[in-house]
Amino acid sequence: MEIVRTLEELRAAKKNMKGTIGLAPTMGFLHAGHISLVKRARQECDHVVVSIFVNPTQFAPNEDFAAYPRDLERDAALLKEAGTDLIFAPMDEVMYPQGYQTYVTVEEVTKVLEGAMRPTHFRGVTTVVAKLFNAVQPDKAFFGQKDAQQVAVLSRMVKDLNYNLEMVVCPIVRDRDGLALSSRNTYLDETQRKAALVLSRSLRKARSIFDSGERSSKAIRAAMEDVFAAEPAAKVQYVSIADTETLLEIDHIKSQALVSMAVYIGKTRLIDNTVLGKPDESLD
Ligand code: PAJ
Repeated sequence: MEIVRTLEELRAAKKNMKGTIGLAPTMGFLHAGHISLVKRARQECDHVVVSIFVNPTQFAPNEDFAAYPRDLERDAALLKEAGTDLIFAPMDEVMYPQGYQTYVTVEEVTKVLEGAMRPTHFRGVTTVVAKLFNAVQPDKAFFGQKDAQQVAVLSRMVKDLNYNLEMVVCPIVRDRDGLALSSRNTYLDETQRKAALVLSRSLRKARSIFDSGERSSKAIRAAMEDVFAAEPAAKVQYVSIADTETLLEIDHIKSQALVSMAVYIGKTRLIDNTVLGKPDESLD
């Protein structure tokens, strides 16, 4: 496994790659969720490239860019073990050279949910991922359903900008107790960690009443609110029941709906989701 930090090194390494390339973009501090993308890429592609870059443009000034956990040495060991061929860990000035002023923006689908709460976030995500696609030129790109809106936004970008690659969406990896794995879980103390289980509990509740025939978003939302009311340490920022592609809210569910949420546990903001009307083994 090779680690490269510049575009020149990346291009040289790519010259030796014959066959398909799979890319899993990450911000590092890897856990089993990230590793599941790498393993899927290993199954589906001849060469596996993982990028590690804590992307400053997707953090707002009041967010945790400086505090975001970083550990390249540990990440490299995990990636080697998972069968990665190449790590692209660019330096800041490679991705954002002095005087940088070019951005990729996706319009409607970034205005709701996470985008409504974090107005500059997706512009940073689409910009950096477009740059990673340009640099690596993968045949397939691997993303987690954990960030459902990110998948919707990037899928739109891939269509709109005619990227010649396939988006592969991998299921949410959870801890045994149901908490979706996230690098930000390291901010939680023991009591908060227990309180954080309210996210997956509320999603299970939504799935169970949907599966018994409920199709009204209002009723599903009310049942979820009862679950949250029993956990005073959780401050719900939003709960959404939306179309899986446009992410616009729906009142009556026909076949499928994305249930997603952002919840504060203390100062830590957690997100989670499930698609009703579609199997979700992570919540069984
Ligand atoms: P990061 O938060 O590091 O996540 C990298 C990838 O891992 C994303 O596709 C994310 O959805 C996936 N992932 C995270 N937790 C997961 C879990 N519990 N189960 C399955 N997949 C999980 O998302 C980003 O980085 C950035 O926005 C990035 C796309 C790299 C652009 O900077």
